Amino acid sequence: MPTFRSRHIVKSCIVLAPAISGCLALGLLSQATLAQSDASTAATTTSYLPSISDFMIATIQPRHVRLWVAARSKDWPFAAYELGNLKGAFDRLGQAHRMEHEIPLQDMISSVTARPFEDLHKAILAKDTTAFDKAYGALTSACNACHQGTNHGVVVIRTPTDAALSDQYFERGTP
Ligand code: HEC
Repeated sequence: MPTFRSRHIVKSCIVLAPAISGCLALGLLSQATLAQSDASTAATTTSYLPSISDFMIATIQPRHVRLWVAARSKDWPFAAYELGNLKGAFDRLGQAHRMEHEIPLQDMISSVTARPFEDLHKAILAKDTTAFDKAYGALTSACNACHQGTNHGVVVIRTPTDAALSDQYFERGTP
């Protein structure tokens, strides 16, 4: 015959049992939810699409500067390399963002940059600083033409004024 005390424990266990299993279930559920939210974080991470402005400050603007620094230093091999990278960055941008203000972005990119890119390419091959400066000015105008054309005239690009990339070597061209 169980004592009053043990009967009381058995009773309270019976009362508590659903609550405990409920708690366990809740624990499992929240773990599952956590796992799920981990998975969806991973999915979001892999499908993260940088915005146009992300592309601009991460892939376009630094190369616009480097291209100029290279030519200033007469580091023509690096200028040629960076011109290729700048073109590539614009191509990736056009593929990632097909439309901007109802205009196909890739077409807009080509229409403003094709000529300056071609002239820059020739100037770099010829190691011609004067021709480079002219073509670089045209490229910078192309940046601004697109900013104005897309209602982002607040973003004004100019020829860099000094070579602020102090951690990169550009002295190849100097004798
Ligand atoms: C085909 C159009 C186009 C061309 C060409 C273009 N841009 Fe842009 N750029 C944009 C648009 C659109 C934005 C604004 C994006 C936004 O804020 O949603 C922008 C924004 C920027 C910004 C501001 C980003 C920020 O977050 O502060 C910089 C810097 C920039 N561009 C640099 C350049 C440079 C340098 C060039 C030329 C080498 C260039 N862009 C050429 C379309 C263009």
